Amino acid sequence: MRKKIVAGNWKMNKTASETKGLIDALKNQLNPSDVEVMIAPTFVNLHAAVQQTNDSHIEVIAQNMHQAESGAYTGEISAAMLKDIGVETVIIGHSERRAYFGETDAILAEKTKAALDNGLRVVFCFGEELADRQSEKHFELVASQLKNALFTLPSSAWNNIVLAYEPVWAIGTGETASPEQAQEMHAFIRTTLAAAYDDALAQEVSILYGGSVKPANAEEIFGKADVDGGLIGGAALNADDFNAIVTANK
Ligand code: 13P
Repeated sequence: MRKKIVAGNWKMNKTASETKGLIDALKNQLNPSDVEVMIAPTFVNLHAAVQQTNDSHIEVIAQNMHQAESGAYTGEISAAMLKDIGVETVIIGHSERRAYFGETDAILAEKTKAALDNGLRVVFCFGEELADRQSEKHFELVASQLKNALFTLPSSAWNNIVLAYEPVWAIGTGETASPEQAQEMHAFIRTTLAAAYDDALAQEVSILYGGSVKPANAEEIFGKADVDGGLIGGAALNADDFNAIVTANK
């Protein structure tokens, strides 16, 4: 079902005590609404964060997972481990995982399948780099990222997938895609989904925008017809800013 969502990707930020403090502040500020609110603290703080948010409408999600069920993968975390501590959703395919940790479309296809097979919901990230946009390859690139990682999945899998379009040139740079650029790409993503599956499915998938979303620009971006919410980095680390962004998703 297409939903309004605002998710905070905390990346490699916040110690255990800082995580607790930020969650306390969010619980005090965020009013229940029809917007789904997710936060993704780092792995070591996930379990405590799940417990701390049990009495709230904030969902704690993971930033990554490994595709194997278990085994000799030092430093990695499995889907079953996430499920066991009460995590229901995992981010897959973030551009930082692609760029710094060598995650290819093929690996991301495996990760997505493993997450779904284990009953997790997936927030799947993708998006072009600046050079792709400058050479007008951004639509082609985004279509291929989706096709390579996701389009062999059955229609039923899409009940548990949220898409997050994050143009790499807008992440952490302060440069946001304009609301028109976001809408243009989100509409293209929906058309691409409709072509691969069908229009009814395409209309049901939530598509988030990510990349320098701030309180000052969130309302205009979220106001676009095919933008269902945001995946927030830097501004998710501050309770006032994150609360303002959640409130902007009307
Ligand atoms: P910023 O909001 O800091 O640009 O980060 C976006 C992001 O990468 C969320 O996953």
